[in-house]
Amino acid sequence: MTFIASPRRNWLRGVAGLSLGGVSLAAPLRGIAAGATDQWTRMAANYDIAPDFINLENAYYGIMPTPVAEDFKRNIDYLNRHNSHYLRSNFDRAGIEAIRAALAAHAGVAVSEIAITRGATESLQNLIINYKPLKPGETVMFGNLDYDTMIDAMNDLARRRGAQVATVQIPEPASRQAVIDTYEQALNRHPRTRLLLLTHISHRTGLAIPVAEIVAMAKRRKVDVIVDIAQSWGQLDFRIPDLGADFVGANLHKWIGAPLGLGFLYIREARLQDIDIQLGNTIFPATDIRARVNAGTVNAASVMTIPAALKYHAQVPLAERGARLRTLRDYWVQRVLDVPGVQILTPEDPAMYGAVTSFRLRGKTSFEDNVALARRLMDEYGIFTVARSGPVGGACIRVTPAFFTRTADLDKLVAAIRAMAAS
Ligand SMILES: Cc1ncc(COP(=O)(O)O)c(C=O)c1O
Repeated sequence: MTFIASPRRNWLRGVAGLSLGGVSLAAPLRGIAAGATDQWTRMAANYDIAPDFINLENAYYGIMPTPVAEDFKRNIDYLNRHNSHYLRSNFDRAGIEAIRAALAAHAGVAVSEIAITRGATESLQNLIINYKPLKPGETVMFGNLDYDTMIDAMNDLARRRGAQVATVQIPEPASRQAVIDTYEQALNRHPRTRLLLLTHISHRTGLAIPVAEIVAMAKRRKVDVIVDIAQSWGQLDFRIPDLGADFVGANLHKWIGAPLGLGFLYIREARLQDIDIQLGNTIFPATDIRARVNAGTVNAASVMTIPAALKYHAQVPLAERGARLRTLRDYWVQRVLDVPGVQILTPEDPAMYGAVTSFRLRGKTSFEDNVALARRLMDEYGIFTVARSGPVGGACIRVTPAFFTRTADLDKLVAAIRAMAAS
């Protein structure tokens, strides 16, 4: 592997799948592919993390591995030097399209089915508010574990179209069948449902729902589904077609490890005309998915770093990544499962969680209670987590390890939860 000084050549070579610049990228990960016993320790060494607290709040966004962060810094510097000359002569013409093609290959879809966005919020908002088939008197449906901004967009869509809103309450404790049954009963109760929002992994509890089964059930009823894969993309072992959904929104800054402010939206080719163009976009023809995004000047240095992030991510198979994250989740959960007063909000079914799992202390159900508990975890134990609200049983604390998390960190979390539950 030769070091390539020019970031421009670096990321274009990354797109072509030839090599990535940055000497530090290949060496540690070769050990992972070879199945070395300390593979995860080596992977952890690729993250430069603040030493002054234990970070178990990695569901907000993912720390970039060092090789990706270095690539990003080179791209910022390069762009800052070359300014719009580079954007106009290269990036706007071919560069961003090569990256889009790499992203489509990574997602397992056609290039014409994908558009780069600034994150899952933009992807999903554009899909929701521009969903054309909804008629007055029909119903849109979402669940209590969906993301607040998408719930807002669904409500807004219904209000502007004169449609009804139906909500689904995911039961607690959840099971695969209970979740499927809940959606089936809700769709039976609301036969005029036209559009359903599903969140693959909830940012509130970490619950992973059987999206493909629910999408298939909805499609049999002629209900369209928009799937939020903000938390699942990059950690669960699937590609976009596996979901069976026609409309999907993702980001790249959580579990792909790309810089902040990146995502994509997917529209199945045959359904493109069912999503209106964004705010009258005339930059692209109405037959082009890119007319569904209109964000102005993009953060080009971030976009230029996508190939490095994809390349780094691809070094370890998704199944292994997901298994590692579940192992870290299992490590702490299994040590507090039997503690009186501790409620774990994902079931002990490995198909129903990834890295994220929330817990609740019995009786502590308000958001304020959980904000106070999260503050205690930080102030008394140096452990950073976050309070979330929305589950039927009340608010909770979300715990999200990452590839750099050590079992010693999780031991401290376990001790803290046991102490707090006893106090
Ligand atoms: C389930 C879910 N959906 C959507 C989003 C929004 O993602 P983004 O930051 O890419 O806009 C998040 C972010 O936390 C999320 O957890």
